[in-house]
Parts: sequence; structure tokens; C-alpha cells
Amino acid sequence: MNNSHARNTNEPGVLAAAAAALEFVSDGACVGLGSGRASSAFIRALGERCRDGLRVHGVATSAASATLATSVGIPLIGIEDRMLLELTVDGADEVAPNLDMVKGWGGALVRERIVATASKRQVILVGADKLVTTIGERGRIPVEVIPMAQWPVTHALLALGLAPTLRMDSTGANPYVTDNGNVIIDFAPREPIVDGKIARAVERAVLDIVGVVDTGLFLGTADRVLVGHSDGRVETLLRIAG
Ligand code: A5P
Repeated sequence: MNNSHARNTNEPGVLAAAAAALEFVSDGACVGLGSGRASSAFIRALGERCRDGLRVHGVATSAASATLATSVGIPLIGIEDRMLLELTVDGADEVAPNLDMVKGWGGALVRERIVATASKRQVILVGADKLVTTIGERGRIPVEVIPMAQWPVTHALLALGLAPTLRMDSTGANPYVTDNGNVIIDFAPREPIVDGKIARAVERAVLDIVGVVDTGLFLGTADRVLVGHSDGRVETLLRIAG
């Protein structure tokens, strides 16, 4: 499996969702900037607002997002400069009905987690193709792993009944390496993860494996999901507290 996660989208629904997310950005805000196609659409839209005079600072979740943000005129700061961000706008690879998510197909899950955790709220932008009934349905849940732990983690995932695959880079010849210098093992659950309770148990079990840095399971982190439909309509899903 390689990391063929395209970086641009012209999909009307995603572009409309990215534009709709601007509503949540107030003047003077500090905004977490996600990674991937939907986030890139948001970064471009926010850059336009900055050129029109909006004053914001961005905290990037990947080198790619930092490069894009700088190129469109969003001033960046490090997370150490400001402990609580007003919001993060990011994409996702799966969104379940309770807004539990899978993220990290683009490889930026650890920094996305750090920035989301430092944010008052997380707004997610997806196309309707990302909506699933059960987490893991699209067959790929990423785990970022310290390189020397690749094999022990692989065996531990197998022992948990989770089918692991080392993610390869775009050449297919070498492991994909994250911005943090780690590798990614994607796993597919052998049994469907039928509810949020099981998702949390899987998350706990995987995080307990020595050498695992984080998983792409973002459970209970999203406050609002903007779903862009192919006709340009944007649907809002809100997390029910509790
Ligand atoms: C990056 O690591 C991911 O978590 C992305 O946010 C996610 O993969 C969604 O990306 P797209 O918007 O490109 O589908």
C-alpha cells in the first residue's frame, strides 16, 4: 500500500465546505490548519481572506500545509507560541454517525492530534464519500510507529486480530516516512467495529503497544462536520455532547 493521497481537489462539495468553514474564523484568531485536500482548499480560501485584510495566525499540521499556508499569505506560528487555538479546520478519511473519525491517510495524524488537542474546537471538512456506518469500514486505520518497532508492532497488531500493512512511499520501494521520521502501519479490522465502545477499546489496545506513537482513530474530537455534496450543498453534522 503506498501513500498515494492526492493533495488537490476541485470537488465542488469540498470546495463549498471549505468556504463555509470560513464563517467560524474570527479576526485575530489562531487557527489550526489541517492536512490533505479538503484542508488545502480551506487554507487557500483563508489565504484569500488574509489578503483582503483578515488578521489570523495559523498553526500547520504538516510540512505540506505549512508550505501552502505561507504561499497564500497566512502567517504561521508554532504551537509553543500559543497554547489554546480558537479552532482547527481539518479533513478526515471516515466519519461515523456519532462523528468518531479515522484520520491519517495523508500521514499527518500525530501533528493533527497535537493541534486538535490544543484547539477549543475541531471543524471537519469531508465529501459525502467519507461518511460510514462503522469505523474502519473503508479498510484502513493508520498507526504511526517508531521505525525500530515496526516488526514488534506488526506482530502485536496481528495478535489483536488487526491485519497490518506497512505503508510504502509513492515509489513503492521504501516505507513511507512521516514528518516526524516515523513509519505508518495501516490496519484493517477483521471484525466490524460496530460501535463507539468497541472503537475505544481498539484504540486503547493499539496505543498500549510499545513503539506506537498514535493512531488515526479520532474518537469524540470533532465538534462539527461539514459534508460537501457533489451538487455543492453543504450539510452540517453536530456532535451530541456526552
Ligand atoms: C492527513 O493525515 C489526514 O488526516 C487528512 O486530514 C485526511 O486524510 C483527509 O484528507 P483529504 O481531505 O485529502 O481526503
